[in-house]
Amino acid sequence: MSAIKLQINTKERRYPIFIGSGLITKLSKLLNSCSIKFSKCLLVIDSKVPKTLINKILKSLPKKQTIIHIFNANELNKNQSSVNKILTILLKKNFHRNDCLISIGGGITGDVSGFASSIFKRGIKFINIPTTLLAQVDSSIGGKTGINSIHGKNLIGSFYQPNLVISDINFLKTLPKREIICGYGEILKHSLIANKKFFLFLNKNANKILNLKSPFIEKSIHRSCLIKKRIIEIDEKEKNLRKILNFGHTFAHAYEATLQYSKKLNHGEAVILGIMNASKFSLKNNLLSNDEFKLIKNHLIQFKLLIKLKKKISPNKLNHIVSFMTKDKKNTTKKINLILLKKIGQPILNLNFDNKKLYSFLKKELID
Ligand code: GLY
Repeated sequence: MSAIKLQINTKERRYPIFIGSGLITKLSKLLNSCSIKFSKCLLVIDSKVPKTLINKILKSLPKKQTIIHIFNANELNKNQSSVNKILTILLKKNFHRNDCLISIGGGITGDVSGFASSIFKRGIKFINIPTTLLAQVDSSIGGKTGINSIHGKNLIGSFYQPNLVISDINFLKTLPKREIICGYGEILKHSLIANKKFFLFLNKNANKILNLKSPFIEKSIHRSCLIKKRIIEIDEKEKNLRKILNFGHTFAHAYEATLQYSKKLNHGEAVILGIMNASKFSLKNNLLSNDEFKLIKNHLIQFKLLIKLKKKISPNKLNHIVSFMTKDKKNTTKKINLILLKKIGQPILNLNFDNKKLYSFLKKELID
């Protein structure tokens, strides 16, 4: 077992992230190395995780009372009822604070399980085993947990850092290409907000990364996690700097909500569209140079990452999109707060725009 170890140090908690192949066959060893002990554990497992991998996890866990809850993870089930089901199991089985919940799945499973962990007896041990690229490079790190509401995405939730994150690359080999592209969107986001050299690395090696070639995939996951680590260690609760991780997401969340979280457009695809929109909006507002905008646009086109927005959303939904953007968590006034780019690797925070400006920008994107 060769693993890269990254230590996250926040005010709330210090915890390791392990990245490598075959880690799920060594769970007892990893738990021991972090001195994590419990007598009962609830495994919340995304129904899409292959049985063979679940069996490997069960075999390698310490011999404790283990309860399994299979969760049909999708944006529509990222709701209060799913959280209640988990809480009911924990209550019925009389879990204590020192017991443990282990999430095995993508970002939705991690967000729902993490939220349940944070509110059960005001906090139970939480281990995240992310099985998608998106969850390994983004959602499993930094303690954001939560659920959707009819008013928008992730509007109910908490900051709750896990005790341990185990990112096993072998899960990725079981995923459809669409899922890999979605995770790649978040890797690309990290490069654009923090490190041009990393962007140039992606621009050179995107095909190898998208095809999960070693050591390119491990390197991309590691660098992505490092970027996120540095941001959340400075601003765990998203008072300011952490907002840059939302680059592209204000657009993305509005598209997802407008489409009622349908499978037509999943989160990562929406993020890639949002990255394109936010880059173009940066160009139109004379913040980003045309040369750098073209680098981003060509990257998205060359590696076939972009879907046509107008194929997914009808122009008569424009009002809905802008209305969801006004409900974004980052907004503190009636205006829409956006993270934009000055250069690749140099984001700008705290810019606010009128609805009308976004309306006319998006009208062109949806109609032209
Ligand atoms: N995915 C954005 C964040 O964790 O802040």
